[in-house]
This record gives sequence, structure tokens and C-alpha cells, in this order.
Amino acid sequence: MTDAVLTTDALVTGSADAAWWRQAVVYQVYPRSFADADGDGLGDIRGVVEKADYLAGLGVDAVWLSPFYPSELADGGYDVADYRDVDPRLGTLADFDDMIAALHGREIKVIVDIVPNHSSDRHVLFQAALAAPKGSPERDRYIFRDGLGENGELPPADWQSCFGGSAWEPVGDGQWYFHFFATEQPDFNWDNPDVHAEFLHTLRFWSDRGVDGFRIDVAHGVSKDLPDVLPSQAELDALSTTDGRHPLWDRDAVHDIYREWRQVFDEYDPPRIAVAEAWVATAERRAKYASPEGLGQAFNFDLLEADFDAAQFRHIVTDNLAQSAATGSSSTWVLSNHDVVRHATRYALAPRNGSLAKQGSAWIIAGAPADQVDLARGGRRALAASLFLLGLPGSTYLYQGEELGLHEVGDIAPEHRQDPAFFRGADPDRDGLGRDGCRVPLPWTGDGSSFGFGAGSAHIPQPGWFAGYAVAIEDADPASSLNTYRRALALRHELQTGESLEWIETGRDDVLRFARPNGWQVVTNFGTEPFPLSGEEPVLGALVDGAVAGETTVWLRG
Ligand code: NOJ
Repeated sequence: MTDAVLTTDALVTGSADAAWWRQAVVYQVYPRSFADADGDGLGDIRGVVEKADYLAGLGVDAVWLSPFYPSELADGGYDVADYRDVDPRLGTLADFDDMIAALHGREIKVIVDIVPNHSSDRHVLFQAALAAPKGSPERDRYIFRDGLGENGELPPADWQSCFGGSAWEPVGDGQWYFHFFATEQPDFNWDNPDVHAEFLHTLRFWSDRGVDGFRIDVAHGVSKDLPDVLPSQAELDALSTTDGRHPLWDRDAVHDIYREWRQVFDEYDPPRIAVAEAWVATAERRAKYASPEGLGQAFNFDLLEADFDAAQFRHIVTDNLAQSAATGSSSTWVLSNHDVVRHATRYALAPRNGSLAKQGSAWIIAGAPADQVDLARGGRRALAASLFLLGLPGSTYLYQGEELGLHEVGDIAPEHRQDPAFFRGADPDRDGLGRDGCRVPLPWTGDGSSFGFGAGSAHIPQPGWFAGYAVAIEDADPASSLNTYRRALALRHELQTGESLEWIETGRDDVLRFARPNGWQVVTNFGTEPFPLSGEEPVLGALVDGAVAGETTVWLRG
């Protein structure tokens, strides 16, 4: 009745505290949109302090903060002007220390975002590079090349930025600099030892302040090997990204950098942890980032990219648990973050059930044809998928607002949009609308200014329907998404042991059931026909007429 038992138990070493990350529920705070304590329209660090009880009540083990550093906000803070300070609009280092104390005091760890691929063009090192001549040590910290044409008036290559448009920007003296992302995000040259020193300093700076770990932005893009004669974009696209030798992406050499960082992480007790954001081609390539000699863990975006589909979910889980067992890491599970359409909305789409590649404009909520978007169904499926994830071995990353079942905001006016992907014309998966729709400030109350986000208006306007998803409204409803997440996280603390699962055959292609070593079972009905469960009473979720209803998950104590 079962297939392979998947386990990494034997590979778990060290004290319980050193291994805290292996089974942690990590809640992503996008600081500028979480809670605004000073009423200026931007969420801030004191906002996180004020919501520390909320986070503790939700039951998360850790908080990951997206960048809160000084930034001109050309890319939502991922354009960092100073890696070792707090954006004055968001607070001070003293506020940050208070936040650490508030969260640690509630047994919540803190992970911060490190952005090593590029800085802001306002960063002191880039300003020095601009002020220095061609060929100078200052310019060598970034990626400068001579332009083509008689006076260098043409870009060194036709490379496209990830956000659309050219990846090269002229600086006025015949030289151009490279940027994977926005023009304001020049890429570092990691062949330069000063860049290594800068980041080792930064890792120690935050570790000394009590930060427990790091999320590494674009971890797979940091190391580059640009030949003197640059290939064309078409030639680049034709190169393999799985042999570790691509000039730009997922190079084997990048792991030398993370081995160096591991030495720093291990200077601390417990060792600082890290998780790689690495959108690489295969699970095998991803595993390299999760090695114990490197970052230790890597985001697994496979479920995020999958449909709400039992066969896909089962295959992905089996595959990834086997990968982590082989490498000694623990798997991470993610359905939403600040870069993708919220999963409640992805799952609201018919007929493709939320495939990112196929959704086109159907996910625009306002005015979308009813036969293309079913929000209630999306919410139901999102909760079922989240409860499935929370029953799995490994760590789960939640994105702020998903505990409310919050939907993507599709109809943000162009003048209120902020995402460079929108302005540079990239992101065809979202019909060119960019990522602002999942970054709208959270609703805390059903009324009042910015639905309790702050005393002023929110930096991205919230739609009226946000009221129905407000924390205060859901708080009062025992059956709400929020209260279901709270119950799930509390039970998970009790039930989460070992790092293995066993699939139990259900006789249905659209129903998954698995058991953990302590008997805890998770049953998810991905279909619409009820799935009878005779004589068993769930500890989470309820049966309807003795069956698991369609698009629902229940937990059994076993
Ligand atoms: C990945 C981040 O998640 C995304 O928000 C950002 O735009 C890019 N890296 C560039 O830093």
C-alpha cells in the first residue's frame, strides 16, 4: 500500500538549536507593506515590533525580512545603497535592535535579505567607480566594458536585462556597466577581492547584531566569467545552464563564494543559516546551493510553479525529499512570495488552475469574466495546498497575507505602480503588469485609514475588497483562513518530528494521503468529489458527511 519511505533523519546533526531551520515555518515580511507605525504610508521596522504579538500568535518560527536598507527604491529595496544600515524612512538601527529583541523574546528567529549580485547605483562603491577613470581599481569592483562603435556609443553586447531593455548602461566616457536587473542596479564583479571583503563585513555586521540567518538574493547569478569578446544574447541563450560553465548563470565557481561565507556562518553559535534564491534548471543544480559546506538550504520553487494537481504535487514532493536526503539539507516549500502572483489567485483561474505561463490577463481580478476567475475556489484551494505543505517534512516559507487568503490586486493604476518590471516591459507571465499586485499593504482592520496598515494612506492603494480579508475581521471568525493557519501552526509544533513521510495509496488520482513516522496523516482532496474517510476524526479540518470535501485538506493524528 505504500511506496518509498523518504528520510533524512540520519543526516540531522548538531544541537537542536543548530538545526532549528530544518523544520521551521518562516514568515516573509515585505517591510514597506507590512505595518506602518509612523503613518507615512510606508511600512517600517517599528511596525514589525508592534506586530510581534501577531507573529507569535500565528505561531511562526522565524521572520524573513525583505530588504529594509537605504535604497532609492528602484526595485522595492533590492537596490541597496548601504548594506549595513536601515532606510531612514523605515527606522534606525536602534529600531532594528528593538525588533530583534521583540522577536527573539517571543522565540522567533530573524532572517535578513542579502543582495550580493548588485548594489544600488547610489552605493558609495558605485559612486566611486563612476568618479574614477576607466581601468581604475574602483571600476574593477563592478562590470565595466568599452562600448562598441567609433566612440563607444553602442552597448558592448545586445544583452537584455531580466526586467526588459538593455542590460548595459553608458556612463558618458565610452564605457558601459552591466546590470542584470534595473539600470539602478549595477552588478558587482566578484573576481574583485574588495567585493568579497564588503560582504564578509556585512554578514558579520548583522550576525553580531543577533540576526539568525540570511536569504541570498539571486544566489545563482553572482559569479560571472565574461570573455573579452562578448557573445550575443542569442549565443548566450543557446549555452547550457546545467554544466556550470555558463558565463552568467549558475556557474560552479559561485560555490567558492558560499564556502567562504560558510566559514563566517560557523563562527557563530548556533551557526547562522542561509537559504539561496536560485532559479536553476534542475533539482541537482539546486542541491549544490543547499550543501552543508555552502549556504545549507535553497528555495524549492517547484510547487509554486505547479498546478493545483495531485500528481504534480506528489512527484515534486517525492523528488525533493530524495534530493534533500542525498545532500543532508532539508527541503523548503513555498507557494507565494513578493515576486509571484499570490497562490489564492493563481488557483482561482480556470481552466489551467493557475499555471503562471498560461494565466495571461485572466488573473486581473477587477472586471475579469466570471468564467475565468473563481475567487472562492482559489481561496479554498490555496488553504488546502498550504495545509498540505505545512504537513510536509522540511521548512515552509509563508508570504505575508497568505494566512488571510489574500488575493492579488490586479487593477493598480499605472501611476501607482512601482515595479521596474512593469516600466521596463518585462514579465510576460503577468501580462506585463509586474509584481506590485502581491505587494499591496496588508489590511489589519475592516475600516479606518489604509485598513489599519497605518495612520496615512498606503504607498500602493488598497482596493475596497481588502476589508473582507482584514486580520481583525478574520480574527473574529473561527473558520477563517487566519484561524485555520493558527491552528495548523500550533499543531505542527506538536506533530513535526523526523524528516520523512510515507505515501498511502488512496485509490483516487486526485487525492493524496501521507503519514509521518509519529502517525500524523495529511489527506488532501485536489478534486471536487468528496473522499470518504470512515471512522476517523480529523484534528484539523472537518469531514462533511464522513468525507473530505473537494479541494480540502484534513490532518489526522493517526
Ligand atoms: C530577486 C528578488 O526576489 C526580486 O524581488 C528582485 O527584483 C531581484 N532578485 C533583483 O534583486
